[in-house]
Amino acid sequence: MSVVDEIKERLDIVDVISGYVPLKKAGRNFKGLCPFHAEKTPSFIVFPDTQSWHCFGACGTGGDVFSFIMKRENLEFSEALRLLAKRAGVELAPRGAAETAEEKRKERLREINAAAAQYFHNLLLQSGEGARAREYLAERAIAAETVRAFQLGYALDTWEALKGHLVGRGYEVADILAAGLIVEREGGGYYDRFRGRLIFPIRDMRGRVIGFGGRVLDDSQPKYLNSPQTPLFNKSSVLYGIDLAKGAIRRENMAVIVEGYMDVLMAHQHGIANVVASMGTALTEAQLRLLKRLTKKFTLALDADAAGDQATLRGLALARETLDHQVVPVPTPRGLISYEGRLDAEIRIITLPEGKDPDEVIRESPDRWNELVRKALPVVDYYFEALTTDLDLNSAKGKSEAVRRLLPIIREIADSTEQTHYLQKLSRLVREDERKLQARLTGKATKPKVLQKKGGPLSGLPGLPEAEKYCLLLFLKEPELILEAEALLQELGLEGLAPDDFDQAENREIFAAWREYLKSQENGCDLEEFQATLDTPLQTCLSKLLAEYIPSEDEAAKDIGRSVLRLRERKLRSRNEMLPFLQAEAEEQGDWEALKQYRQMVEDNANKLGRIQQALKARTLFGRREAAHDNLL
Ligand code: UTP
Ligand code: MN
Repeated sequence: MSVVDEIKERLDIVDVISGYVPLKKAGRNFKGLCPFHAEKTPSFIVFPDTQSWHCFGACGTGGDVFSFIMKRENLEFSEALRLLAKRAGVELAPRGAAETAEEKRKERLREINAAAAQYFHNLLLQSGEGARAREYLAERAIAAETVRAFQLGYALDTWEALKGHLVGRGYEVADILAAGLIVEREGGGYYDRFRGRLIFPIRDMRGRVIGFGGRVLDDSQPKYLNSPQTPLFNKSSVLYGIDLAKGAIRRENMAVIVEGYMDVLMAHQHGIANVVASMGTALTEAQLRLLKRLTKKFTLALDADAAGDQATLRGLALARETLDHQVVPVPTPRGLISYEGRLDAEIRIITLPEGKDPDEVIRESPDRWNELVRKALPVVDYYFEALTTDLDLNSAKGKSEAVRRLLPIIREIADSTEQTHYLQKLSRLVREDERKLQARLTGKATKPKVLQKKGGPLSGLPGLPEAEKYCLLLFLKEPELILEAEALLQELGLEGLAPDDFDQAENREIFAAWREYLKSQENGCDLEEFQATLDTPLQTCLSKLLAEYIPSEDEAAKDIGRSVLRLRERKLRSRNEMLPFLQAEAEEQGDWEALKQYRQMVEDNANKLGRIQQALKARTLFGRREAAHDNLL
C-alpha cells in the first residue's frame, strides 16, 4: 500500500474537514458552509462513503482529503502529505537509498551549475573575448549592478572551454552532460552547448542555479538557447527572476509576468522588482501555482496583439488548451480564465503599445510602465476589447461574430455572479436580449433537452476511483488519447478535460503534471523521464498505477471516449443526487439566489447527462476504430 493510500485509510475525511468547517448531517452525507467562498446556505458536501467532498456553489470543485488540505492550507501535494501523515500517525518512510542517491546527484548538478555560472560571469566581467558582450550590454543600457544581481555571463565562442574548465575542477563528464551544459557528438565526444553567447543563469525560488539561457550578440538564430530538460530544470515550471522578485511580489501583493529575460532585467534595474518572465512559452498552470504561494494577483504583459490574434486566427474552438506543441506566448483565453477559477486567482492583462517590449517601455519611461500596470484590465474585459476591435458592432455580421467569439469565454467563468455580469456586458455590446444569450450560453437553444433517467439510490461515486485510474492510465500510455477525449467532450459541448476530473488528489496531480510535461516536450515523451520529475510520493503512486493495471493490447485500444464519458456520467449522477437536498434547504432559508443556481444546475446536469448517454449509446455501435475509419473515407 502506498503512503497515500495508508493515510486515506486511517483518516476519516469527515473528521479532518470538521476541523475546518462545522458540518451537519444530511442524509448519509454531511454539509457545511463552503470554506472557499462566501455563502448563506451550505453547499459544501462531504461524502463519507467515497471519502470525497464537493462544493455545489460558486466553486464547483471537489476532491479528496488531500485536495481539501492543499486548497485550504495552500499547500503543494508533498506538503499536504507531510501534514496528513503526521495527523494519521503514518511514518513517511525514511528516504530510501535510491532517493538519497538521486538527491545527491541533484546536489552535484547544482554545484556544477553554480560553478558554470561563476565561470561565465567572470568571463563577462574580465576576459578580452567578453568585450563584445560588455559592449552589447551597454548598448542595451544594462547597468553593472544588474549584471551582478543576475550574475550575467559570457560563454566563449569555442567548443570545449566550459567542459575543460569543469573537468579541470574535478566534475564528471556524465554529470556535466546531465546538467545540460555539454552535448554529445554523433561520432563520440562532447562540446559546449553555449558558445559565443550572453548567459542568463536561471535560478529557482531559493536562488539556486537550475539552468541557463544564452542570447546571441547579433541577429543569428536561434536568438536564445536554453538548457534542455534536466533533473533540475523543467522549463514549464520555472520563472526567470523569481528569486529576486519574490519579496516584492509578496509586499506588493501582485506579480507581473512578462515574456523575456531582457524585460525582467530592465524592470528590476528600474526598481520594479515584482516582475518575472515565463521565458517565451505559454504561461503554465505550474508557473502560476509557484507564484500563488506569494500572491493571488497576476498581471500579464503580453505582446500587443498576441492574444487577439490567437483567439481569432486559430478560432476559439481550437484555441482551448490542447497539446499542440506550437509555442504561443500566452495561454488561450479559455485557459487563462480557467486558471482563474481553478487557482482562485485574479488575472489582469496589460496591453503593450504596438511593437514594444516591456524592456523598451520601461527604458523609455518607468512611469508609463507603472501606468500600464495600473490600467491592466481583468482578463475577460481584456478579451472583450481584444476580440472586438476588428468588428463593426453596428452590423449584423459584426454582432454575431462578437457573440461567437465571446460566449465561449463567458462560458468558462466559474463564478456565476461574474458570469452574469459579463453576459449583461455582451448583451449591451451587441444590443441583444440577455435571456437569448443566456439560452445560448447554456446550450438550451441548440441542444435537444433530454430527460434525465432516474438512477437507483447512488451513494457518492461508486466505482469512480477505478474509472479515474483507468482513464489516467490510458492517458499515460497513449498521450494522443487526451486530444481524442478533448475533441469528443468539445463536440458534446462539455467542459474540457481538467485535473479536477480526478477526485483523488494523487491522480489529479499526476494528470496535471503529465499534461504540463507533454506541453514542454517538443519531440516525444518518456514516461520514465516524466516520473523522475514528480515528487517521490507521487512517483510511488504512479509506479503502483502502472503496475496495477497492465492493459492488454485490446484494452489499450479501448475507446477512451467511453471511459471519459463514464467518468463524467458518474460524477454528474452523484452530484444530482445531492441537489434535491440542497434545493430544499435553500428554499427553507429563503436563499433564492442559491435556489436559482441549483435549479439551473439540475437542468444543466440533465442536459449534459442526456448528451453523454446518447453519445455512449452511439459509441456502442461505432467504436473508435470504425469512427476513425469513417473519417478517412
Ligand atoms: P523575445 O524575442 O521577446 O526576447 O522572447 P527578449 O527577451 O525580449 O530579448 P531581446 O529583447 O530580443 O533581446 C521572449 C523570451 O522567449 C524566449 C526567451 O526566454 C526570451 O527571453 N525565447 C525567445 C527562447 O527561448 N528562444 C528564442 O529563440 C526566442
Ligand atoms: Mn525584447
